[in-house]
Amino acid sequence: MTGRLKAPKGTHDLFPSDSEKFAAVEATARRVFGAHGYGEIRTPTFEATELFARSVGETTDIVHKEMYTFPDRKGRSLTLRPENTAGVVRALVEKGIQEIPKPIRLWYTGPQFRYEQPQAGRYREFRQIGVELLGAPSAAGDAEVLGMLFEFLRALGLSDAVATINCIPKGDARAAFSRALQEHVRPHAGALGADDRKRLEENPLRLFDSKDPEARRVLAGAPATLDFLDAASRAHHEELKRLLPLVGVRFSESAGIVRGIDYYTLTVFEVTSERLGAQNALLGGGRYDDLVGELGGPPTSAVGFAIGEDRLVEAMTADVRPPKTLFAVIPDGPDEFVYALGVAGQIRGLLPEAVVESDLSGRGIVKGLGRAGQLAKDPSKHAFRIERVQAVLLGSQEREGDTVTIKDLTTGTQQSFPRRQLAERLAGRER
Ligand code: HAM
Repeated sequence: MTGRLKAPKGTHDLFPSDSEKFAAVEATARRVFGAHGYGEIRTPTFEATELFARSVGETTDIVHKEMYTFPDRKGRSLTLRPENTAGVVRALVEKGIQEIPKPIRLWYTGPQFRYEQPQAGRYREFRQIGVELLGAPSAAGDAEVLGMLFEFLRALGLSDAVATINCIPKGDARAAFSRALQEHVRPHAGALGADDRKRLEENPLRLFDSKDPEARRVLAGAPATLDFLDAASRAHHEELKRLLPLVGVRFSESAGIVRGIDYYTLTVFEVTSERLGAQNALLGGGRYDDLVGELGGPPTSAVGFAIGEDRLVEAMTADVRPPKTLFAVIPDGPDEFVYALGVAGQIRGLLPEAVVESDLSGRGIVKGLGRAGQLAKDPSKHAFRIERVQAVLLGSQEREGDTVTIKDLTTGTQQSFPRRQLAERLAGRER
């Protein structure tokens, strides 16, 4: 076979200028979540297919239409994870969740896989940053998670975020809501597609996930989740609404948000960003108090969210990569090469946050300065966020006298000094 290979449909490569942004977002997540006591969990990229059928739910679009499922060589059915909550709960139950002191605070980042129609912000392989808090049943748990999420978004410069929240009835109240929904929709069932008719009978809540305009029209006048809450659920919801402004979360309420996953009970929420186009949620989450029990663990309340990291990076306008100084170390000829390596290593030792690049072309100082000069003019050509470019010029004079010449390409100033003075001369140029 000849011809050029392409990345599979719906996947995208991250080159350094992108991956550095992802890394900076993940570093911010680690800092903000870590400061609240959340530790990172890493679970496998594939799991037994049954895990997702039992948690996300058989009648959801994700399980029904979007999973990458394959038999392994021994015929076990495996699935590339479409989301990470199920894997986290599986891992905790397997480890013995009853032995772990509550609440359990976890975060994660990693690739997820869904066979969806690719479009702007929608991929078949995408990355999520998520948080799960287990063993905190009260609205204070929801408020902690949402407050921390908004702190994270603000740290990334997204201070205009607004959450849309809803509360989904559970237990008997959920069954009553499902019946009322069926009664409302059944008279119009003839106008619905086969998938929605199946949802109507098997799992009416999933009708809210339908993209069919006819289904959306029928649902416009449907009963509202909030009218079916029992007293305890209503109190939970009211308490959360009281707490959210106190933890820095702006929100509005919408009865139409049920989220496309079966495990949610009570609180559900989404954040959309105007920068992403209307139908694309930046993140989604909610409470899933029954899932640990359903996957074989002791009853344990839980709440969490997952952010679409690709969408997040696309929505950000601020550059969160840490600003850096670039030192371009340029030997004048082959005789200076080893001297230049030594100086470059010394600068890295003195300024661990700086970027120190050696010119490998052997074309001399004048030509070597060309690339450094281009970067000084247009730092966006570099993978890192370069704020300042310093050319370190090393000719025979420097080598023989054990000196260093540094030209600041941003200001044009140049100075030569003994190499042993590097530490004091570089002081204050950290980054
Ligand atoms: P989800 O709403 O299915 O929830 O996904 C969360 C976020 O992942 C979405 O809001 C979106 O930003 C991003 N996302 C989903 N599909 C794609 C795609 N095809 N391309 C790009 N981004 C996408 C969950 O996954 C739950 N596990 C969240 C959760 C955690 N609930 C409780 N804990």
